[in-house]
This record gives sequence, structure tokens and C-alpha cells, in this order.
Amino acid sequence: MFCRINGIGLNGLNAYPVDVEVEMSRGLERFDIVGLADAAVRESRERIKSAFRSSGIKFPGASTVINLAPADVKKSGSTHDLPIAVAILDALGEIPSDIGDAAFVGELSLGGEVRSVNGVLPMTIMAQKNGVKRIFVPKDNAFEASVVAGIEVYGVGTLAELHRHLGGITPISPTPQYVPKPDSYSDRLDFSDVKGQAFAKRALEVAACGGHNVIMIGAPGSGKSMLAKRIPSILPTMTFEESIETTNVYSIAGMIDKDEPLIVRRPFRSPHHTVSTAGLTGGGSVPKPGEISLAHNGLLFLDELAEFNRQTLEVLRQPVEDQKVTISRAAGSVSYPCSVMLVAAMNPCPCGYYGHPTKKCVCTQRQVSQYLSKISGPLLDRFDLHIEIAPVAYENLSSDIKEEPSAVIRERVQRAREIQNERFSGTGISCNARITPDILRDVCRLTDGANALLKDVFDRLGLSARAYDKILKVARTVADMDGAADIDRQHISQAVRYRTLDRKFWVNE
Ligand SMILES: Nc1ncnc2c1ncn2[C@@H]1O[C@H](COP(=O)(O)OP(=O)(O)OP(=O)(O)O)[C@@H](O)[C@H]1O
Ligand SMILES: [Mg+2]
Repeated sequence: MFCRINGIGLNGLNAYPVDVEVEMSRGLERFDIVGLADAAVRESRERIKSAFRSSGIKFPGASTVINLAPADVKKSGSTHDLPIAVAILDALGEIPSDIGDAAFVGELSLGGEVRSVNGVLPMTIMAQKNGVKRIFVPKDNAFEASVVAGIEVYGVGTLAELHRHLGGITPISPTPQYVPKPDSYSDRLDFSDVKGQAFAKRALEVAACGGHNVIMIGAPGSGKSMLAKRIPSILPTMTFEESIETTNVYSIAGMIDKDEPLIVRRPFRSPHHTVSTAGLTGGGSVPKPGEISLAHNGLLFLDELAEFNRQTLEVLRQPVEDQKVTISRAAGSVSYPCSVMLVAAMNPCPCGYYGHPTKKCVCTQRQVSQYLSKISGPLLDRFDLHIEIAPVAYENLSSDIKEEPSAVIRERVQRAREIQNERFSGTGISCNARITPDILRDVCRLTDGANALLKDVFDRLGLSARAYDKILKVARTVADMDGAADIDRQHISQAVRYRTLDRKFWVNE
């Protein structure tokens, strides 16, 4: 007896169809799995046999060979248990109806329960695209799969339950499609909580408008972390495609939220400075996404930047630039997306009070420069804006003035992004921060006044060519916020104000 069932394999974020074929013939009792299966898949045999027994289903006393096709792709993990079990049930004649339009994914426990697996979302999306009409997934993953439109999702608790469903005895009801509630979209933290800090807020708005990376430098308690956490609330609302992309990463990592399976708010990830390289960029024997990918389409916040391991930070440079991270393993390599806005915060010196308006810094000049030199030049180059966060003034902190809410700032950001979308349409560039050198001059046209000011600043501060490019890009964003076609003097002057480190702490001291 020969049967074929739809299974699904996964490599990184790439789901692909796997045909689970079973050939059952008379002869000595044996049970083999072929088709480039790894150890976890081969161990399926024991789980499946035991699950059959526990579920009160007789395991075939015949020769059973399972083939996972295509045979030239390595199959790993335990997600094939369920389709293999269904294939055997089918071969035993236990399934009267046609299940050619269904796919199955899940791990079995020895007791016959269907255990949750990672990556159900990308698998369901692929199945739907390939014309599968029904997908049977572990019960705990059903909510996650129900995000996908155009496919019926069945959450399966046990093999016995699935047996009864497919046998037409007790049907399982499909999980209704998940649609986010309107309040899922609103961010929990709002800029209106931050009193005063007009300069910092304006700078962060500029950063959000142009997609620029920012580093904030300021004394302890000046509000750096508080500001950073609120940046996602002013970034443009996520598109559905972005939501799916980000949720896919969480699905692979097994980190889907039980209540809100679809991520509709931009993620904010803030790994501790003791994080390992693998934790930050991804890794492990079955490569898992790291913090930078969990921040995909959102914000990666590196608080206390100077405390991070230098090597770990260096590894970040390439992914930040390429917007994807590739992890190589003997079995092949996988890539995870990581299009993030990078925001970092640090104190200006070991004691934290260098340049503070009222508190005295107790560090020597040497300690200050050593502290700052922990951050390498190339890494620093990833930040378009450097801003100094001054401590909030008491009058501001105690005042009753209503601060501007994030929703209002976000509207301005959306407008500035629309200008950029139009400018870069068809170029593959997403925002001003990603302007490539070949079009920089074209896109950033300066008025005469702006040119003169830039030349003056350049000579006076002895800026590097890189800093010059960054100033142009940030000035482009400021001009967009103004609705100006050309970059004017005041746009340059604002952009230069957001280059604290060039002006104050570093380079030409
Ligand atoms: N502008 C502000 N408006 C209202 N509250 C503020 C403001 N600035 C700081 N605070 C309060 O001070 C607390 C400390 O701020 P925060 O943790 O963001 O400082 P920080 O700059 O990150 O300090 P550290 O360098 O120690 O990490 C905040 O949780 C908040 O309660
Ligand atoms: Mg902090």
C-alpha cells in the first residue's frame, strides 16, 4: 500500500514542501525513514510507535518505509512526526476522505500529544501559497498560523484527536482567522511622558524621519533610556508585509506572543551589554535569530554602549549595513533579515558627568578619551546623529504643560517618509539614511548659503569625508521635514548640531 501526505520542511526562514511517502508491504516488521533525515527525524520512529500505542491505535506489523522527498534536501527537526503518523494511518486505511489538500506539521510525544514547534508561521504562509487548503498544526501553534488568510487552520492536541477527526468521527473545529484588535496597534509608551528635552525630541524625530541611527550621550538619569524606548511610537506604522516579516522571525525563535500572534508594533530590543555574539547576531547548532533580527523593522537599542564587548560590537557592523545576517554552519547557511534602526546610549566618561552643566566630572582627560575610544571609529560611523542629552530642567519636570503625544509626531514622520518614498521610488533605497554615494550629490543639492556654511564648518572642525556625507544626509532629512527641495543654510546648521562627537568630545580635541 502506497500513500503520499503533504509535510513541510524549514531551513532558516525558508519553508519548503516535503512529500511524506509511505510504502507498506507484507514481510518482516520493520520501520525505516529515508530521505536525508537527520538524527531527530530518525528518532521519529520511536516517538511515533509509542504515540500510536498510547493513542490506542495498532501500529502496523508490516514492513513500513517512509521516504521524505525531495531526497536531496537535508530534513531536520521533529516537525515531520505528524505527517509521518498520518501517512501510516492512511496506509492502514484509517482515513476514508481525501486529504490531498491538507498539510501536517507537528512533533509527537511518547504519550501521543502533539507538541508545539518553531516556525509554524513561515510554514503556513508557504503552504497557503502552494495551494494547500487546510493545515493541521500543534494546538499551541494554531493561533500563530491563524494569522494567514486563505487557509483553514486546525489546532491538534493529540494524535487520537486527529485520528478521530480524519476518520470522520469527532471533528476538530478550525481556528478562526486572527485579526488584530484596534488597540493592538497603539504603542504602550508615549513621548508625552517625557518632560522638556525639546532638543533631544527634535533630534529623534529627525532620526525617525530619515531612518538614521542615533547615539545619545548623557549623564546617568538624564533620560536616555526613557527616550529610546519611545522611538518606536513615532516610527511609521508597520505595513502588513513588515508585520509578517518580523513575526516570521519570532516564529522561528519560538517567541510568538500568546495573546497577539501578529506583531503590529515595531519591536524594541534592548540586549544587555553582557550579550554574546551569538545572542546578538544569531547562532547555535540550529541557527536561531539573534537580537538584531528580533528587532527587524524596529529598533535595536544598545544601552551603555561602552560596556559592550568590543568584538561583539564589531560583528554588528556588517549586518547593520546589509540589513541581513548570514549564519554559516556545516549543514549550510541561513540568513535572517535585520533591517533595524540602531540607537545607542552611553555616558560621556566613566563617572558620567563629563560636560555636565552643574555636576563636576572626576575623571582625568585621559580616562575620558580612553572611555570614548572603546567605541571604534568604523562603528561610530554607523551613527548619523550624535546627540547630547542634557539633564531635564526642574521647571520642565515639575511643569503641567502637556507635551506633544507620539501620534502627532508620527504624522510628521509619515509625511517626511512619503517625500522620500517618492524620491527613491524604483531605486531600492528606503530612506535618506540609505542614500548611496553615487546619488548623494544629486539628491542633496545645496543652496549657495548652505554651501558656504558647510565649507566653513568643515574647515573649522576639520571634519572627515565620512562626517561630511552624514551631515548632508541628515540635512536632507531636515529639509524634507521642511518640505524644501534644496538644502538651505538652516538645514545644514541643524545637521551639524546633531554631530556632538565631531564637535565636542572626539576627533579634534
Ligand atoms: N524628561 C523627563 N521627563 C520625565 N521624567 C524623566 C525625564 N528624564 C528622566 N526622567 C525620569 O528619570 C528616570 C531615569 O531616566 P533614564 O533611565 O531614562 O536615564 P538614563 O539617561 O538612561 O540613565 P543611565 O545613564 O543611568 O542609564 C526615568 O525613568 C524617568 O522617571
Ligand atoms: Mg539608561
